[in-house]
Amino acid sequence: MSDAVLADHDLGSANTLGLPCRAERFAAPATLTPLRRLLRLASARQWPLTVLGGGSNLILPERLPGLVLQPALRQWWLEQRGSAVLVHVGAGVEWHPLVMALAERGLWGTENLALIPGSCGAAPIQNIGAYGVELGEVVEAVRVLFVEDGRDALLTPEECAFGYRDSIFKGELEGRAIITGLTLRLSRSASPRLAYGDLAQRVGRHPGPLEVARAVCAIRREKLPDPAELGNAGSFFKNPIVDREEAAELLAVWPDMPHFALQDGRVKLAAGWLIDRCGLRGWRDGHFGVHDRQALVLVHFGGGSAVELMAFAERVAEQVRARFGVSLEREPRLA
Ligand code: EPU
Repeated sequence: MSDAVLADHDLGSANTLGLPCRAERFAAPATLTPLRRLLRLASARQWPLTVLGGGSNLILPERLPGLVLQPALRQWWLEQRGSAVLVHVGAGVEWHPLVMALAERGLWGTENLALIPGSCGAAPIQNIGAYGVELGEVVEAVRVLFVEDGRDALLTPEECAFGYRDSIFKGELEGRAIITGLTLRLSRSASPRLAYGDLAQRVGRHPGPLEVARAVCAIRREKLPDPAELGNAGSFFKNPIVDREEAAELLAVWPDMPHFALQDGRVKLAAGWLIDRCGLRGWRDGHFGVHDRQALVLVHFGGGSAVELMAFAERVAEQVRARFGVSLEREPRLA
């Protein structure tokens, strides 16, 4: 039964960092009816609530009290709307297989976001982004259920307040709304986005979305560790954004520092480069390390805990602060 509540449930393999964690109670409702029933139960019993997606951007403690919910709404379907194609997706659909299925159908819009681990329901929370595209650009609506009263609502992209690795689900709506589905707006007209890095060199002159998605997968496999082989949560820090003056001062000392001017005049730096330049790429201490091919990714070799990971990350951030005067902000969320 999809609203069955399991006691003392092991979440060790439900988080890509592979941190040990046991949920006091766990349920994976497959439709809105059991999800609402579980919310009422949690409220009546005053159980703290944690919502889990694919567990790929989350740092879990050793014990999660109350109820852990993993929405398992797994349907998706297409709707032709004028020249656009809308894709309605349940929160429990896995992101990467969906991207490949859409690219195979010749639909443009999500191909640059191939191979990002996790579920569709988690994707809007951090506004997943890669290779010059962010999810928010293709979102038509996000469907949510309000925890307080079980009300169902559709949020527009504006209401979602998407930003760089940010959205309303990390702010005002954190803990208040559960994402149950998404609607994406895709297109059949060719619209390749190849400006990032060497993506353009990796595809032919007139690529289809599947060719672009495959090129993105190849780049990611070269740099990013596969969570099935080595625990990680992708980028552990956000790329820091500094004001123009601070960027100019840094560039005077480090002329080869990667930097990207934002529309508001501020400058985004590459946290991976900053960590790398501290000599930390490939550094290991205890059960955790800095990935040897992409310094922005912290890896878990097994046997460690969330507390140890946070202390390790703080040591990395401290070295970047000491050398560059730049503060790094954590990217994965704490459960
Ligand atoms: N760099 C280094 N050394 C490193 C890592 C990076 O010198 O160890 C340099 C690179 O050479 C490049 C620059 O830093 O000049 C940026 O690196 P890259 O293009 O690999 O991207 P990133 O800024 O490190 C971001 C996202 C990734 C996303 C890629 C591609 C964030 C926090 N990370 O990484 O997202 O895949 O761009 O778009 O914005 C994730 O969020 O989990 C994630 C993997």
